[in-house]
Amino acid sequence: MAVHRLGLIMFGITGRMGYNQHLVRSICAIREQGGVALPNGDRVMPDPILVGRDAQRVGDIARRHGIARHTDDLARALANAEDTVFFDSGSTQMRCALLTRAIEAGKHVYCEKPIAESLSDALGVVALARQRGIKSGVVQDKLFLPGLRKIAMLREAGFFGRILSVRGEFGYWVFEGDWGQPAQRPSWNYRKAQGGGIILDMLCHWRYVLDNLFGAVRAVSCLGATHIADRVDEGASRYNADADDAAYATFQLDGGVVAHINSSWCVRVKRDDLVTFQVDGTHGSAVAGLTRCFTQHRINTPRPLWNPDQPQTMNFNAQWDEVPDNIAYENGFKLQWEEFIRHVCADAAWKHDLMEGAKGVQLAELGYKSWAERRWIDVPELDATIPAASASRQHARRRSRK
Ligand SMILES: NC(=O)c1ccc[n+]([C@@H]2O[C@H](COP(=O)([O-])OP(=O)(O)OC[C@H]3O[C@@H](n4cnc5c(N)ncnc54)[C@H](O)[C@@H]3O)[C@@H](O)[C@H]2O)c1
Repeated sequence: MAVHRLGLIMFGITGRMGYNQHLVRSICAIREQGGVALPNGDRVMPDPILVGRDAQRVGDIARRHGIARHTDDLARALANAEDTVFFDSGSTQMRCALLTRAIEAGKHVYCEKPIAESLSDALGVVALARQRGIKSGVVQDKLFLPGLRKIAMLREAGFFGRILSVRGEFGYWVFEGDWGQPAQRPSWNYRKAQGGGIILDMLCHWRYVLDNLFGAVRAVSCLGATHIADRVDEGASRYNADADDAAYATFQLDGGVVAHINSSWCVRVKRDDLVTFQVDGTHGSAVAGLTRCFTQHRINTPRPLWNPDQPQTMNFNAQWDEVPDNIAYENGFKLQWEEFIRHVCADAAWKHDLMEGAKGVQLAELGYKSWAERRWIDVPELDATIPAASASRQHARRRSRK
């Protein structure tokens, strides 16, 4: 068995996602377990170089995790031919330019979502990646969540019969920051000019969840809102939170499936998890959170009685059976990293490429368009060879709106 080194440039690892999910839970965990096993039995050991504008912070993180290499010089890192993969989980606004630089330097690229702020930029980077023949990937972590993997298993097993509808509830209360509770998310998320907005953030996720689990998304109707326009940032300064902080979106999918997903940072949680999906089919229904999943088959479906004169006597929650944890579910970000590394090093199958990321940006952009124009919008097939001129116009409209 041989162990191969994989030189990996990591950008954005001082951020929430970059540090927690990608560095600590994925790359450090992979290094601790002795690398990633390839189909031929060899192993790949990632050798990261941490890159960030603040040399001190990046150096501290590197030392804390026993990582030998770090720098504040991205150009130099990209010039090193021994490092063949570039990863970005930095700010959304910088992503497209960073990916472009990395691809032009001949690197394979892997990144957080969204891959760009506009569809035209996203398709530009997809076209460049294809031209240069590099391998690419975008984080699609929700597909690796135990709850959604259980839903996928139920669907493959034929449990649902014909799927009729999907209801998603995502969100929790994000504190405004002005009355004794600091805000728990970075303030750029609530500023339009800094790449914020829940539609751009979450419709990227819902695109791959719906496409992969329930049917290709064919049309969208989306109502956004900026419920809380006054927030206090990390530096205790009050700011105008002008980005959308809630989205109420309905989707039509292949096969006549109707999906409705509410996404909100202005909602208090009285459900089993921070995101839940209810799937109703002719033969059975399921409700999944991040990890757990409950089912009700048609033969176990009780007959409720509508009687407003009496308090409810049925305990609806007790009428569902839990899908057992028959297999071990690891961190989803780490699982996806392992797949990507196998794809880069052994050509293993991989479907989460930049084109899949562009589809997410497309749905977000059409969500904004639907909101602005107060109507349903069809979702066309994407082709990275066609310049997305109309998409550019939509993006310009979105950014100038309100
Ligand atoms: N997959 C998911 O579930 C998920 C969840 C949250 C965020 N994200 C995505 O991850 C990305 C980061 O989000 P986050 O919540 O970690 O944000 P964050 O603000 O915590 O981190 C942003 C990172 O970018 C760096 N950065 C910002 N501006 C910079 C600049 N001008 N120059 C150099 N570096 C700069 C910061 O130093 C930091 O390392 C976003 O694109 C976001 O959409 C994905």
